Amino acid sequence: MTELVFPAGFMWGTATAAHQVEGGNSNSDWWEWELRPGTPCKEPSGTAIDHYARYESDISMIAGLGFGTYRFSVEWARIEPTEGVFDEAQLEHYRSTVAAVRRCNLVPMVTLNHFTLPLWVAQKGSWLADETPRLFERYVRRVVEALGDSVDWYCTINEPGIVGIGGYLGMLGFPPGARGLSSWRRAADGLIAGHRRARAAVKELRPGAKVGQTHAMIEWESNAGGRPIMAFSRRIAEDVYLEASKEDDFIGVQTYTRVQLNLARPIGWLMRPVLAAGPLTRIMVSAMLSRTNLSTPPQPNPDDGVRRTQMGYEFRPQAVAATVRRVAELLPGKPIIVTEHGLATANDAERIEFISGGLAALHDVISDGIPLGGYIHWSAFDNFEWDRGYSMTFGLIGVDRATQERTVRPSARFLGEIARKNRLEVAGS
Ligand code: BGC
Repeated sequence: MTELVFPAGFMWGTATAAHQVEGGNSNSDWWEWELRPGTPCKEPSGTAIDHYARYESDISMIAGLGFGTYRFSVEWARIEPTEGVFDEAQLEHYRSTVAAVRRCNLVPMVTLNHFTLPLWVAQKGSWLADETPRLFERYVRRVVEALGDSVDWYCTINEPGIVGIGGYLGMLGFPPGARGLSSWRRAADGLIAGHRRARAAVKELRPGAKVGQTHAMIEWESNAGGRPIMAFSRRIAEDVYLEASKEDDFIGVQTYTRVQLNLARPIGWLMRPVLAAGPLTRIMVSAMLSRTNLSTPPQPNPDDGVRRTQMGYEFRPQAVAATVRRVAELLPGKPIIVTEHGLATANDAERIEFISGGLAALHDVISDGIPLGGYIHWSAFDNFEWDRGYSMTFGLIGVDRATQERTVRPSARFLGEIARKNRLEVAGS
C-alpha cells in the first residue's frame, strides 16, 4: 500500500444544488419546464428529497462522515419570488442552513445560481434579457448581506457553459429551449456579465470572501481530423467562461468524463455554416458536446468495449486531472478547487473506484506544483438529475423517495475516511 498524503488544509467536501434536492421549487423556470408538454424531461422534480425540510439531519449526516465542506446553492426563485420583492422568511431559511452547516464544523460553500431562474426572470427572457445580469446582482447583494460573515466561499454561476449550450444552443433540452448560435452568444454574454457583477458585489460587501465560478470541463482528446471541432467545442462550452474567471479568487472545476474525437477529415471549417443552417446542427453539435464519445455513441448495452456510467459517459475518473491541468496552463498560479466530480452508478463499488482513481490522479497534479486546494464530490445524495429525473444515482448517500429514508453507502464512508485522514491509500508501492 502507498499513502498519498494531501496538503495540509486541503478542502474535502460534498455537494448538492437547491432545485435537485429541496423539493417544491414551484416558482422556478425548471419547475415549469418539467411540467410543460414536449420538453425532454423524464419526470417532475416534485418533492425531490425534501432537503428543504430535512436540511439539519442531512447536514449532520455529511459532517458525521468526516467531510469538512458542504457546497450547496441558495434559490433565487424562493428568495425573490416576485420582481423586487425579497422574502425574508426564505433568507432566514438559508441563514439557518448556513448556521447548521457551521454548527457541524463544516465550511459552507454557497452557489448563488445553480441552473434555475425565478419564473418572472424567465418571462423576461432568462439570460437573453439585457436586464438579467443587473437583476442577478441585486439578488446576490441581498443574499450576501443576509448571510453576512458566516460564508467565506461563494460560487457565482454554476456551469455557465452547460447553461449556454443546454438552454440557448439547443443541445441538452434545458430551459428556455432557445436554439442557435445567436441566442447562445447573447446568453453567454449575459452569463458572463452576471458573473462579473456578482463577483464585484460579493467583493464589495465581503472583501475577505473567496469568489469563483464553477466550470463544466471535459477531458478532450482528438486526432488531427477532430481538432477543429475540439477547439470550437472548448471555446463555446469552456473557454469563454474561463477567460471571464481571470480575476476570480479560485476556479471551480467540474469534470465527469472524456470525449474522444476521431474523425477522418477536419470538418471544423464547416462549423459556422452548419450552425447557421440548422438540421445538421443538432446531430453534430450534440455529438461534440454531449459529453460522450463521438466514435462510440452511447447505447443502452453498448458492445463497444467502452465502460460507461448510467449517464452514458465513459467511466474515466482521471479525466478531472486532465482538466485541472488545462486550467493551470490557461490561468497559471490561480487556485483551483474541484467543485464537482462523481458518477451515476447503481454499483457503489464503482463509485469507490472512481473516487480513488480521480484522487490518485489529482494527487499527481498537486505533486507537480499545481495549486489544487480541494475536492468536492457530486453528490452528497441521490437527487433530481434535471431532464433525466431520478433515474441517475449520483449519491454517496442513497435516498428512497417513497419514504425519504437515507442510506449511507460504503463510498460515503470511504471518502469520509480519506477526508478525515487527509490521505488516500492505494495499492502498490
Ligand atoms: C451539474 C449538476 C449535475 C451534475 C451531474 C453538473 O453538470 O452541476 O447539477 O447534477 O453535473 O450531471
